[in-house]
Amino acid sequence: MVENTGGIEALLHEDRTFPPSEEFRKQANISDPNVYEEARRDPEAFWAKFAEELDWFKKWDKVLEWNPPFAKWFVGGKLNVSYNCLDRHLKSARKNKAAIIWEGEPGDWAVYTYRDLYREVCKFANGLKSLGVKKGDRVTIYLPMVPELPIAMLACARIGAPHSVVFGGFSAESLRDRINDSQSRVMITADGGYRRGNVVPLKQNADDSVTGETPVEHVVVVRRTGTADDKMMSGRDIWWHDLVADQPLTCEPEHMDSEDMLYMLYTSGTTGKPKGIVHTTGGYLTGTYATTKWVFDLKEDDVYWCTADIGWVTGHSYIVYGPLANGATSVMYEGSPDYPDRDRFWSIVEKYACTILYTAPTAIRTFMRWGEEYPAKHDMSSLRLLGSVGEPINPEAWVWYWQTIGGGRCPVVDTWWQTETGSILITPLPGITTLKPGSATHTFPGVEADVLDEAGNSVGPGGGGYLVLTKPWPAMLRNIYGDPERFKETYWSKYPNIYFAGDGAKIDEEGYYWLLGRVDDVINVAAHRVSTMEVESALVDNPKVAEAACIGRTDEIKGQAIVAFVTIKDNVTASDALIAELKQHVATKIGPICRPDDIYFAAELPKTRSGKIMRRLLRDVAEGRTLGDTTTLADPAVVQSLKEQYGDED
Ligand code: WT7
Repeated sequence: MVENTGGIEALLHEDRTFPPSEEFRKQANISDPNVYEEARRDPEAFWAKFAEELDWFKKWDKVLEWNPPFAKWFVGGKLNVSYNCLDRHLKSARKNKAAIIWEGEPGDWAVYTYRDLYREVCKFANGLKSLGVKKGDRVTIYLPMVPELPIAMLACARIGAPHSVVFGGFSAESLRDRINDSQSRVMITADGGYRRGNVVPLKQNADDSVTGETPVEHVVVVRRTGTADDKMMSGRDIWWHDLVADQPLTCEPEHMDSEDMLYMLYTSGTTGKPKGIVHTTGGYLTGTYATTKWVFDLKEDDVYWCTADIGWVTGHSYIVYGPLANGATSVMYEGSPDYPDRDRFWSIVEKYACTILYTAPTAIRTFMRWGEEYPAKHDMSSLRLLGSVGEPINPEAWVWYWQTIGGGRCPVVDTWWQTETGSILITPLPGITTLKPGSATHTFPGVEADVLDEAGNSVGPGGGGYLVLTKPWPAMLRNIYGDPERFKETYWSKYPNIYFAGDGAKIDEEGYYWLLGRVDDVINVAAHRVSTMEVESALVDNPKVAEAACIGRTDEIKGQAIVAFVTIKDNVTASDALIAELKQHVATKIGPICRPDDIYFAAELPKTRSGKIMRRLLRDVAEGRTLGDTTTLADPAVVQSLKEQYGDED
């Protein structure tokens, strides 16, 4: 046991370590440190053992075929993901176990047992078939956090139609781009969703996304808020409840090849165009199944709650596929953490007696700021394990989480991974790993990583560099949808046959990984990836803007905040009203999470002589730092004047 040293200040420069308690270790799913060595010796055998725990219609012939950068896992195997998440649990007492405990923001709730979920998935799968959806057809899903969202995903998986879930916070235009890129003929949406007591007008956005030329022929609408009853377009729109009304309660699962596409999910990269990350069937399910079981130490009677939105990969892997493949009971919440009050999360933990909580550092820092009185109102003694994901967690937030939420008894697993990696790759194993606040610790067994310098040499203990993955892993992305060249270029070109993650990292003397944030033009805002290029294109799309450059400024709560430097056209005047207009323009164009926090007007942007914007200098200005090396600037006066305008005194 580690003693409580009192005030948070004392813990600011945390160098204590947190070994697993004897009590936790004794009951852990995995507590033998030899697993690391075993997996290193034969990673294929290691992963195959997990794959054996799944149900296959036909077993694989070969575990791995690796033609860098293209991997195939469990080659020749046939399986169905929805069968593994549902049907196989119906053969045991799990059939009447709660699969999903759902709570809506207004306080309504529903419990789906595995049998209930199976029935709803089969009915909806039949409904999709009745609309002509066939194996291989892409289906776009634009839904709030309602049970129909996982049901729709599993129904797609059942009939072999890859889904493309678009986060409900994205705008009509972002949705349109994703629909067009995936060429979906069917979209599933809702009239609206609840967020902070307001209705998010999803149907309106959905309608706006399919005007003009569109591949979409059918729009299935979940009735959630009752706000679009007069907006159904006959011939195109159909209510979810009407579609499933007369459908049979069973639907044969499609026998999918291990390498058939399960889904695509768009994520921001360094260019303006989002990338459709492709995940396939056998490897992805094996990876999410294995990590859910070991990282969260998942047990039959756990009540597991991941607070992410299913619109992001965290929700795909750790609300839907990982937990359901494990037969877990999972909590799903629709709304915001401060509605009706700032204790909503803790009231949910208490009400459903959650044992495992998985959330993001941004949320943790927000709760810290709100104060301890909110968690203190609730009995949270049911919790036994805490998780963190999405961005680096600062030691102060880690220790607060550990003490105030976990009561000093729950291991905190800080899990590093990406949309592209599909499953958690750097993480503690809570029954084995001695934790260090702020470090994601070690690679999951069977995963090989390294930190390299520019030339591709391992930096070794203490050094900083680029995080890479040196061996294929089952849940890895297989491609960028329709763009294998970009796939090679983005991830596999910096170092031959090695996956480049786009994150900075260092390894300490004891071999612990410390993640240092993105090294490319991606901003991590509140654990969401935003591309500087996307925000810049949204800004210059406004006729008053001549040029724009965006950077991420360090932010105490959100990790990073978006700051835009904008040059306006000659006949336009800078004003507060224009700042407000431009912020709104970006929010409407891409989505509210991409709204810049600050907009600075610049007479000119600092550029190199070859015309490349020097974002590094803009970051220095925005963070009030002394300017770094300015020797490559075409015109040093540009950044000096910006600094006088906006920078702090040196
Ligand atoms: C980027 C991936 C993984 C699901 C949510 C985000 C950052 C993620 C951590 C962590 C430090 C982290 C990285 C990564 N990130 N988890 N535990 N510690 N950084 O998925 O949107 O694909 O973003 O999030 O920068 O590259 P994503």
